[in-house]
Amino acid sequence: MKVLVVGSGGREHALAWKLLQSDRIQEVICVPGNGGTATLSRCRNLGLTVDDFEGIGRFSTVNNIGLIVVGPEAPLAAGITDYLHAQGLTVFGPTQAGAQIEASKAWAKALMEEAQVPTAEAAVFTQAKAAIEYVTERGAPIVIKADGLAAGKGVTVATTVSEAIEAIEAALGGAFGAAGQQIVIEECLMGQEASVLAITDGKTIRPLLPAQDHKRIGEGDTGANTGGMGAYAPAPIVTTDLMERIEREILQPTLTALQERGIDYRGVLYAGLMITPAGDPKVIEFNCRLGDPETQVVLPLLQTPLHEVMLACANQTLDRLPPLQWHPGAAACVVIAAPGYPGSYSKGVPIRGIAEAEAQGGLVFHAGTRLKEQQLVSDGGRVLNVSAIDQTLAAALQKAYGAINALQFEGMYFRRDIGHHALQAENL
Ligand code: AMP
Ligand code: GLY
Repeated sequence: MKVLVVGSGGREHALAWKLLQSDRIQEVICVPGNGGTATLSRCRNLGLTVDDFEGIGRFSTVNNIGLIVVGPEAPLAAGITDYLHAQGLTVFGPTQAGAQIEASKAWAKALMEEAQVPTAEAAVFTQAKAAIEYVTERGAPIVIKADGLAAGKGVTVATTVSEAIEAIEAALGGAFGAAGQQIVIEECLMGQEASVLAITDGKTIRPLLPAQDHKRIGEGDTGANTGGMGAYAPAPIVTTDLMERIEREILQPTLTALQERGIDYRGVLYAGLMITPAGDPKVIEFNCRLGDPETQVVLPLLQTPLHEVMLACANQTLDRLPPLQWHPGAAACVVIAAPGYPGSYSKGVPIRGIAEAEAQGGLVFHAGTRLKEQQLVSDGGRVLNVSAIDQTLAAALQKAYGAINALQFEGMYFRRDIGHHALQAENL
């Protein structure tokens, strides 16, 4: 079977790599892919953009593509699945109606309320005056969110009322374009975050291993928010008991609420959770796709062939799929960023040492790279994702950091404390 993967990040490189571990997969085509997918064997890049639904549909029909996997949220929210379904193609990823769970935070909040899913208390505003009155009355800390997709930049965790007012004025003043014309203001939750990515065929839902990512740029979880600087799985904070509660109190009721709205949701439902100091799981947000970099730690641990899992979702046969098989042990991923990220950074910097890093046991996924006249160069803020698996998280981290030592990329930045929360737990 041939599979087409839509997207160009580390998540999509990990998807292509995992799919190709099965000899049932003849070829993976990435649209548009990156320098990593360009050099993976049985994989090639196709020079179309992720919003070229017609081009993707035509290529898939002509080339007999058996499965299309959509990585990022933007094409899902724009209706790529609806378009490809209409062409008779098989897609892993929800329809436009389902993708609203990520594309509109107000819509997701209303769904959670209806389903009685535990989440932060919230109110929705389109007028600055009412929003400012609300935060003044509530006080800080308080969280201001642009309703729509804002490339990870639409959330402000305000520690003072004046910071909250600034965020309200920025969003409603057009800082995020149409995505910020409506805002959600919510209670600031305390605790530890965890990501539970679940797969669903619209009828059955099953969680993958829980993961944790590290959103801040600086060590000790300080500094600006980023797309994610590293991850590990499984996240020990999500115990077996807690996972049962997450399934019962969050995943299942959310799926039921989607069904009640007539939404046929096939793909990933990603619950970004806060585990409160009392040990209760609350939803921070839902995403309609796999996490990045969570995918780069969850997929290396998956033993069940990925295309079987994805086809079971796309063809609505998940109830018949045997339980997912996982490698024992743990996985870690450290993100290598360009100097200056998440602020401005330069591109086109040569990268060397990938084969040497892989010889150390690292799995090097490319996030923002491209081939320039046969030389690999940086092409984004997050450049490489170095993952490793081993018997323990400590060993996986040691392997990943050992592999990073072999990389040469001028000014490369990475956090040296990935997995610190869980390491403390492992050492207890
Ligand atoms: P997002 O850009 O939607 O992934 O959110 C970015 C980050 O903001 C989350 O990972 C949390 O760290 C933080 N955040 C969002 N909502 C809340 C909340 N209600 N309470 C505390 N932190 C939050
Ligand atoms: N790692 C966070 C995200 O994918 O949204």
